[in-house]
Amino acid sequence: MSNPATGSVTLTLDGSNRSVSLPLLGGTLGPQVADIRKLYNELGIFTFDPGYGGTAACDSKITYIDGDEGVLLYRGYPIEQLAEQSDFIEIAYLLMNGELPNAAELKAFETGVTRHTMLHEQIRNFFQGFRRDAHPMAVMCGVVGALAAFYHDNLDIHDPEVRRIAAFRLIAKVPTIAAWAYKYAIGQPFVYPRNDLGYAANFLYMLNSVPAEPYEVSPILARAMDRILVLHADHEQNASTSTVRLAGSTGANPFACIAAGIAALWGPAHGGANEAVLKMLGEIGHADNIPAFIAKVKDKNSDVKLMGFGHRVYKNFDPRAKIMKETCHEVLGELGIKDEPLLDLAMELERIALTDDYFISRKLYPNVDFYSGIILKAMGIPTSMFTVIFAVARTVGWVSQWKEMIEDPSQRIGRPRQIYTGAATRDFVPIDKRG
Ligand code: SDX
Repeated sequence: MSNPATGSVTLTLDGSNRSVSLPLLGGTLGPQVADIRKLYNELGIFTFDPGYGGTAACDSKITYIDGDEGVLLYRGYPIEQLAEQSDFIEIAYLLMNGELPNAAELKAFETGVTRHTMLHEQIRNFFQGFRRDAHPMAVMCGVVGALAAFYHDNLDIHDPEVRRIAAFRLIAKVPTIAAWAYKYAIGQPFVYPRNDLGYAANFLYMLNSVPAEPYEVSPILARAMDRILVLHADHEQNASTSTVRLAGSTGANPFACIAAGIAALWGPAHGGANEAVLKMLGEIGHADNIPAFIAKVKDKNSDVKLMGFGHRVYKNFDPRAKIMKETCHEVLGELGIKDEPLLDLAMELERIALTDDYFISRKLYPNVDFYSGIILKAMGIPTSMFTVIFAVARTVGWVSQWKEMIEDPSQRIGRPRQIYTGAATRDFVPIDKRG
């Protein structure tokens, strides 16, 4: 629950003596919020906030972002420290449970995840129904949603043990489904998970190994993949997380809720941006073409955006973009890639954009998606899999946020209101009386 009221704000209807005093609720960090729950009953009005840019939809203890200061905390720990000193499975425990695990807790959690990485053999059949050229995110929506058909009988989501198993199953099986979506697309056999590999290494193993020969996962690539998963794990009430919460607020099957989150993440304005950045860099082609491209972005009629730039919350650097940029240089260096034209182009595009008043005045900075695609491409991951990897990482955040919502005693079904601007009440006109 949020902290007790730290004051109030009074609203008065102009031209009337009707006013209401709304409690101001304070959290640990960030702005206070006006609790408007009694506004309609007291003043008969709603608030209007399309896109919820100024509306707190819930009380959460998981992630905090300060968009002006470029701060991102997972359970209070700065993303910079976690990226440097922790790893994805430990951060999954942290996001789910609220505290860093001790050695025994971490081992038990990791074993719990490892023991659920395999899929029911019949799930293989779902892949067969897709065209080989289906976008892997479409396959993810379908197959993750299908898990609901396999785990619906014992699904009392108010039983903590059921929630714990569902969380393990989702965190563990989504990478397997993601890797199998890739294998299906390229016509290679599915590779079963290995219990002797860490989370990121196992994912790379299932993506890249073939039965015809041994495959050794590069520690460099495993560490890079782990870093990418860490940076994408959670991010407050973004569009896909809000989708999962809204779906989950009806008591829906958690596997179906995560499939809804995957669908929302796919959009190019959200998680689909990493794939769109690579496409944009390919279209620009050469630094000489940057000015013409920037001119198109500034032309409102072109509907062209600088993909990987801008953010609803960050009005300063996205801290993840900074870490991703550093990781980009590290990975390319460790892979012995001396000059990556795409990285050079991205850095030149960033340099030009950050000196251009159009972007400065709109506080548009690189976000998490601007550099991630370049690393993934250098790691040999196909562009179509970029958002899938974002979904693998964000499943931990979605599951943590879903669990927090179900366990919140004040939680109610989500049901936003509207301002109706359609036709006033009118009588039906029989077809022979219409114009
Ligand atoms: C993610 O919410 C999250 O936390 C998301 C995420 C997460 O971890 O979950 O961080 C992941 O989704 C990152 C964002 C990835 N998307 C992109 O990189 C796509 C390109 N970015 C834009 O589509 C846009 O910046 C958004 C969608 C990210 C933010 O949209 P907003 O908040 O609605 O931005 P806005 O429209 O208020 O922007 C203000 C102005 C507008 O121009 P004016 O009407 O003032 O003239 O800036 C312009 C916008 O047109 N603008 C851009 C731009 N982003 C905003 N102009 C050119 N290129 C852009 N990228």
